[in-house]
Amino acid sequence: MPLKLAVLFLCFAIVSADSPYRFFEWNVTYGTIYPLGVPQQGILINGQFPGPDIYSVTNDNVIVNVINSLDEPFLIHWNGVQNRRNSYEDGLIGTTCPIPPGKNFTYILQMKDQIGSFFYFPSLAFHKAAGGFGGIKILSRPLIPVPFDPPTDDFTVLIGDWYKTNHTALKQILDRGKKLPFPHGILINGRGPNVTTFTVQQGKTYRLRICNVGLQNSLNFRIQGHKMKVVEVEGTHTMQISYSSLDIHLGQCMSVLVTADQQPQDYYIVVSSRFTSTILTTTGYLRYANSNRPASGPLPGGPTTQIDWSLNQARSIRTNLTASGPRPNPQGSYHYGMINTSRTIRLASSAGQVNGKQRYALNSVSFVPADTPLKIADYFKISGVFRVGSIPDAPNGQGIFLDTSVLGVDYRTFIEIVFENYEDIMQSYHLSGYAFWVVGMDGGKWTSASRNQYNLRDAVSRSTVQVYPKSWTAIYIALDNVGMWNLRSEFWARQYLGQQFYLRVYTASTSLRDEYPIPKNALLCGRAKGRHTRPL
Ligand SMILES: *[C@@H]1O[C@H](CO)[C@@H](O)[C@H](O)[C@H]1NC(C)=O
Ligand SMILES: *[C@@H]1O[C@H](CO)[C@@H](O)[C@H](O)[C@H]1NC(C)=O
Ligand SMILES: *[C@@H]1O[C@H](CO)[C@@H](O)[C@H](O)[C@H]1NC(C)=O
Ligand SMILES: *[C@@H]1O[C@H](CO)[C@@H](O)[C@H](O)[C@H]1NC(C)=O
Ligand SMILES: *[C@@H]1O[C@H](CO)[C@@H](O)[C@H](O)[C@H]1NC(C)=O
Ligand SMILES: *[C@@H]1O[C@H](CO)[C@@H](O)[C@H](O)[C@H]1NC(C)=O
Repeated sequence: MPLKLAVLFLCFAIVSADSPYRFFEWNVTYGTIYPLGVPQQGILINGQFPGPDIYSVTNDNVIVNVINSLDEPFLIHWNGVQNRRNSYEDGLIGTTCPIPPGKNFTYILQMKDQIGSFFYFPSLAFHKAAGGFGGIKILSRPLIPVPFDPPTDDFTVLIGDWYKTNHTALKQILDRGKKLPFPHGILINGRGPNVTTFTVQQGKTYRLRICNVGLQNSLNFRIQGHKMKVVEVEGTHTMQISYSSLDIHLGQCMSVLVTADQQPQDYYIVVSSRFTSTILTTTGYLRYANSNRPASGPLPGGPTTQIDWSLNQARSIRTNLTASGPRPNPQGSYHYGMINTSRTIRLASSAGQVNGKQRYALNSVSFVPADTPLKIADYFKISGVFRVGSIPDAPNGQGIFLDTSVLGVDYRTFIEIVFENYEDIMQSYHLSGYAFWVVGMDGGKWTSASRNQYNLRDAVSRSTVQVYPKSWTAIYIALDNVGMWNLRSEFWARQYLGQQFYLRVYTASTSLRDEYPIPKNALLCGRAKGRHTRPL
């Protein structure tokens, strides 16, 4: 990066100037890809599918200039990156204006007080079904102790279900009000069966950062003859426990350590769909560098029992209270279980038809985007774009209706959200801008007595959580990040057809300590067109 350009960026970024800068320039194009053997239109970043990894360290300033060389508007969302005080950079239709075709937009991100494994993906239309995703690694700063030895290598493993149908055709199905068919296969790092290979040296230990970047299904991940020691989940260092197979739900990431402690040969890596009547399966390889034998024997089997096995595994993944997080003090020193919650928000999903078209809702409201990003309308005080309180904070059993749903919550409060799932499908929810404590999950209906079984000591803090069929999941959140934050289903067709809303974390303060002003380079669209991000 030429110095002049770097200086230019420093001028418009209100970020901590003592932290290093990392610059990326990404050209987003269409290209032909063949992940399941048939040619289809994919979204490439600098010619790559999946896109390049973002490698960063806690507090780094990450500047990504995205050039949209597609023929339609485009946005990238940074799943799990908290964009503290800066929801304008979240890259969602409710926070950021789309990058018009042929134009560019420079995202100014800071990995403030974060470590861990995350990913990015295109958030508009149904672009996610065409690629455009990649891994995000946030390493600990050099002097912060990490609770395991440095691995020999650190692999990004993006797994997800996939359609041979292109994203335009999938979007048309949804726009016509129909459900999507079942996906056609599963990819590992953008490749179908028997292609992806991770090469290891015998006796060495490797970190795999596994993220489910798919559209619809929970996945199970396993490696023939090898155990996986879970060490990190979306920014929390966990109690290091070994598993032979792991369920990874939509939008979730976890890091595992794998030691190449077997005979030198190739071993199968298997990824299969969970909770589905037809089981999709794909394979890859763990190859020992000195291997002279191809993988053989039966593929390692996944869990045969359904919910209980998965629920017990989820409960066994807990925070290591003595391990550090982004700061040297133990992450457990924040005693979330001792804080009283000031509000409970209960959210239940539903599916149904509105005007003869399939829709999905939370507390009966099916989200429709406004003509102006909500965050930008809020900044310019443009009325009539959304209404705070347009979604109730508990299910009321009404029929589904459409609205631009925004729920207002107060800055610096500590709240409880209960996801209630009365449907017979697996759900996965993500909240932008935050990590939250997953204090409980169980089958049946949530009642206030369910609180007696909450884990108030060492629950994991993460940004994406599953809710089992006919079950509930409860989370605690410290609302310390002002902004307009998306809470959504990670089941991508459901998100597209309305199972999402925005949480407006509000303060009357205009201090930079609480929230940054709109970025100077913010694109302005809809009713904000022609406004200015700074006084002239
Ligand atoms: C982006 O990639 C396309 C296709 O390779 C190319 O035509 C275009 O010039 C590139 N744009 C930039 C800004 O590099
Ligand atoms: C587009 O890229 C140029 C640098 O090539 C940068 O100066 C400009 O700020 C970018 N535009 C936006 C809207 O970020
Ligand atoms: C927890 O973290 C500590 C500190 O790094 C480490 O010594 C210990 O082995 C970890 N315990 C488990 C069970 O992961
Ligand atoms: C997408 O798929 C549809 C339906 O198969 C097809 O008509 C269209 O040409 C495809 N578009 C591209 C760009 O491949
Ligand atoms: C991949 O390898 C497995 C195991 O050898 C084999 O059963 C399967 O048919 C292969 N799949 C493809 C698509 O080549
Ligand atoms: C939490 O609420 C309980 C019961 O109302 C009260 O006794 C306790 O002091 C409160 N704790 C804090 C930290 O406010």
